[in-house]
Amino acid sequence: MKRSSIRLAICLSFFVGTSCKQNPPESTNAPIENTTWWKEAIVYQIYPRSFKDSDGDGVGDLKGIIEKLDYIKSLGVTAVWLNPIYTSPNADNGYDVSDYRGIMAEFGTMEDFDNLLEGMHQRDIKLVMDIVVNHSSDEHQWFKQSRSSRDNPYRNYYHWWPAEKGKPPYRYSLFDAKGDAWQYDSITDAYYLHYFAKQQPDLNWSNPKVRQEVYDIMKFWADKGVDGFRLDAFQFAAKDTTYPKFPDGFEKDFIQYYAMQDGLHSYLKEMNQEVFSKYDVMSVSEGAGRNFGDAHNLVDADRKELNMAYAFEGVDIPKYEGYELSTMKKVFSKWDKEFAEEGWLSIFLANHDQARMVSRWGNDDPKFRSASTKLLNTFMLSMRGTPYCYFGDELGMTNIDFDSISQYQDIAAINGYLKALSDGEDMELFLKKLNFSSRDNGRTPMQWNETKHAGFTTGTPWLPVNENYMAINVEDEDSNPESVLNHFRKMTEIRKRNPILVYGSYALVAPEHPTIYAFTRTLGDKLMLVLLNFSKEISEINLDSKWENHSILINNYSGLDYFDKSIKLKPYQAVILNID
Ligand code: GLC
Repeated sequence: MKRSSIRLAICLSFFVGTSCKQNPPESTNAPIENTTWWKEAIVYQIYPRSFKDSDGDGVGDLKGIIEKLDYIKSLGVTAVWLNPIYTSPNADNGYDVSDYRGIMAEFGTMEDFDNLLEGMHQRDIKLVMDIVVNHSSDEHQWFKQSRSSRDNPYRNYYHWWPAEKGKPPYRYSLFDAKGDAWQYDSITDAYYLHYFAKQQPDLNWSNPKVRQEVYDIMKFWADKGVDGFRLDAFQFAAKDTTYPKFPDGFEKDFIQYYAMQDGLHSYLKEMNQEVFSKYDVMSVSEGAGRNFGDAHNLVDADRKELNMAYAFEGVDIPKYEGYELSTMKKVFSKWDKEFAEEGWLSIFLANHDQARMVSRWGNDDPKFRSASTKLLNTFMLSMRGTPYCYFGDELGMTNIDFDSISQYQDIAAINGYLKALSDGEDMELFLKKLNFSSRDNGRTPMQWNETKHAGFTTGTPWLPVNENYMAINVEDEDSNPESVLNHFRKMTEIRKRNPILVYGSYALVAPEHPTIYAFTRTLGDKLMLVLLNFSKEISEINLDSKWENHSILINNYSGLDYFDKSIKLKPYQAVILNID
């Protein structure tokens, strides 16, 4: 029979000679090469519409973010990525920009923006802007001009196909109710291209004037002092404008046909020369192309294009049906390996285009929500790559439960529903899947306290607040040392004090273990072992003798159970061991 000595907390270990150190290591003596602030950054992503409303109109705004700057600082994050805040008719919540130098009226004014930036910089927090230039809004002046006549000087800012040539070869649109990326426009009897919604016409990047306009816009923001750019959907910017016919069914694998087309790298090199090289800014592109080669070509330092890749293969793993831990291990490990020597990655499990982290990757049952969110945050903040933490995930915010399409606000959900309906899909199943995966799940308002609408607004929130705000909110979690929020803060502190977690090499341990994700991080003579039980059952893992001498750096439970040469992890237990 195994000895079941449950060791409670702090400094007990079963192993002979195990020592308990009070202080985690603060640095390594090993020289670290190619250090940069953006590799060391911990990014907090804010969806401004849902963060904090300061004026009672039900929509979050810049003054609301300003009110919460001390909170943001208290998280230990070092940079904020703001989803688009530019003037927009909001067909896609700001991802349809009608003035790239204006602030969306609902969000405030340029003065508010300047105050926000100043407030962030005073607190040593960097600001990364979202640049949406694969497409603009159909209400942008450029498009209004472009559609007005065939010989307008702005005509060539967009992609047009004259109707007298017949219907253009089919292109798939991600957000169109018919899935058709060509929209007929009677004003000039022509079709225009929109990879997203029809209110989001694609800009013509082969036109040097368009490119120059974009660089000028980026310089406008860089001159204000912003610290970085996230390039929205940019992998799709280059197009083969001869519009060859694609094989039937190509849309199931549209990335292969849409991403990284000829010209894209030259546009990025030009952007780098014109903008990035002139400022101390970080750059990240949404999507990392079709394969590792594409991803390296985007971000390897000698390419002089972008700083870091933001690849989707990881975040896309969990599905309505669930996911296999083995897949998660395989995917994160292969990306790490591929970028071990050259290039740099983003690490993220959620964003504004996904449902909530704990509902997809963990277990949002109240019994396990807290432990499993802490586990996921431990993972994100102990991996190599720049972590991007989505607002609310530091609290363990969960999916909201919508059962009717009328409850959704997102254009992708609404038009996706219309398309599924006309395709004759099983609509009951469609709604169940949407309930699990919709982007609106990740966009419900931030839960600040127990007052009405969770303290997000004094008005009516643009999207309902999740009913569980009495149990999950900043105020309660702030005062509870064992909360998800305070665990998040401990993790950011640990990452910042331990360069090994930023720069150290990564190695998977016990790759075949069905429920535990275990890996080491190594830098110089420092070694850490991360143990994560991705299961609601107790899980056991054998420990190598070389790890016997260790101290616990962080633990989402109050103790760790040792049995002979193994450790038993409680449901969703997550620990980092500092190996002597
Ligand atoms: C990106 C954004 C998403 C937006 C789309 C169109 O994928 O992350 O929110 O809807 O581009 O701009």
